[in-house]
Amino acid sequence: MRCAAGKARETCVSQVKGNPPPLDCDRSMTRTAPAGPSRREAWRMFDRISRRYDLLNRLLSFGRDVSWRNRLASYLPQGTRVDLLDLATGTGDVLLTLRQRCNTIAAAVGLDLAPRMLQHARLKASRMNMQRDVYFARGDVSRLPFAAGSFDVVTIAFGIRNFISISETLQEIFRVLRPQGRLVILEFSLPTKAVLRACYMIYLRRIVPLIGWAVSGDSQAYRYLDETVETFPYGWAFREEMAKAGYVEVTACPLTFGVATIYAGYRP
Ligand SMILES: C[S@@+](CC[C@H](N)C(=O)[O-])C[C@H]1O[C@@H](n2cnc3c(N)ncnc32)[C@H](O)[C@@H]1O
Repeated sequence: MRCAAGKARETCVSQVKGNPPPLDCDRSMTRTAPAGPSRREAWRMFDRISRRYDLLNRLLSFGRDVSWRNRLASYLPQGTRVDLLDLATGTGDVLLTLRQRCNTIAAAVGLDLAPRMLQHARLKASRMNMQRDVYFARGDVSRLPFAAGSFDVVTIAFGIRNFISISETLQEIFRVLRPQGRLVILEFSLPTKAVLRACYMIYLRRIVPLIGWAVSGDSQAYRYLDETVETFPYGWAFREEMAKAGYVEVTACPLTFGVATIYAGYRP
């Protein structure tokens, strides 16, 4: 099997140059900084909820998170062998999905700071009989333990909004990418249509922490989710961040009414 480039992808590609932000729709103006646990300690919170993390992902996204991760596979280069690094790999869903769907992946490495999340990732890999196909390691995205030019593809799903400095992280990833290497990021965003956006805000602020508390016993973690989603510079603003860090051919593809977006760019 190969990683087929999704047809839909071609239709939603837009580049930074000559593409101004549509009013204030591309960036949340509702909050300025997360009031919950600090981003520095975010990994501890993920460790606490690691047992219920996958279940809550399925529940809270109505199962859409699976198809969003599958969509990432269409962004991998076709026909050439690639070494892939998945940052903030968590319980390993992205790395395992990509490794399963793409036979062009040579090395598949997942990195995260939360040891219990990684424990679940390793368990899942061995249940799927993939323990020899993927490698999970503990590490911080701000100081990647890899030499310059080590990877052809770097992926991050729902991780970058948790990092302390987005621009420094983008630069650090740039360092470990090979020339022509690709960065693909899946992250939450907000719907641009006003009515949808208002409904989604109610869901994020009121319902998500409630379900999070009922299932994991930790409502703080799911309030943090809302705070980080609302303060993340998504859409045009994030494409600009990528361009500033040196990435070229930067694209953004909104998914499911703009609730999530896939960003992609190359290291020249
Ligand atoms: C929302 S989870 C995403 C997990 C996975 N990528 C997915 O798609 O489900 C965010 C992950 O980022 C990790 N994380 C947060 N800060 C980090 C850092 N500085 N370095 C590495 N991982 C970090 C957390 O431990 C957590 O597992």
